[in-house]
Amino acid sequence: MRLRVNGDEVDVAFAPHKTLLEVLREDLGLTGTKHGCELGECGACAVLVDGKPVLSCLLLGVEADGADVTTVEGLADGPTLHPLQEAFADLGAAQCGYCTPAMLLTAKALLDRNPTPTVDDIRAALSGVLCRCTGYISIFNAVGSVCGLGPDCAADFDATAGKEPPR
Ligand code: FES
Ligand code: FES
Repeated sequence: MRLRVNGDEVDVAFAPHKTLLEVLREDLGLTGTKHGCELGECGACAVLVDGKPVLSCLLLGVEADGADVTTVEGLADGPTLHPLQEAFADLGAAQCGYCTPAMLLTAKALLDRNPTPTVDDIRAALSGVLCRCTGYISIFNAVGSVCGLGPDCAADFDATAGKEPPR
């Protein structure tokens, strides 16, 4: 099958029962997309399909035929990091990094459709990605710093903000 991933057409053979998550990680070696619950609960496996965040553990690889798939490996422009990647690094939003690829891609999708979100918009957009680390404030701050809200935009948020099951 031919898939379009991060701007490249790739030919790949895989069993028809494989999820897009498995195809990306196991057949294409794109291990930036993280493997969490495999149940659509944690959001760690989010990638962009035709620009929209999709849980790759819930999509079969064959269902991505003809779609434009973006993984975290496709965010940077060669050696130049995406502004969201820069902000996550600068503001300590990466923490352990397990949820970071999904956070970055989900934030990119938000900013692509709404370049001037509020902090509540950021919180709502990222609510489907669970972070097991120290919380969401630095993540919201990093996204806010890219869209003009500033690097302290989430300072007044409850530290438990976002710690709710994904919807
Ligand atoms: S691994 Fe897909 S939602 Fe958890
Ligand atoms: S940074 Fe560790 S799970 Fe979010």
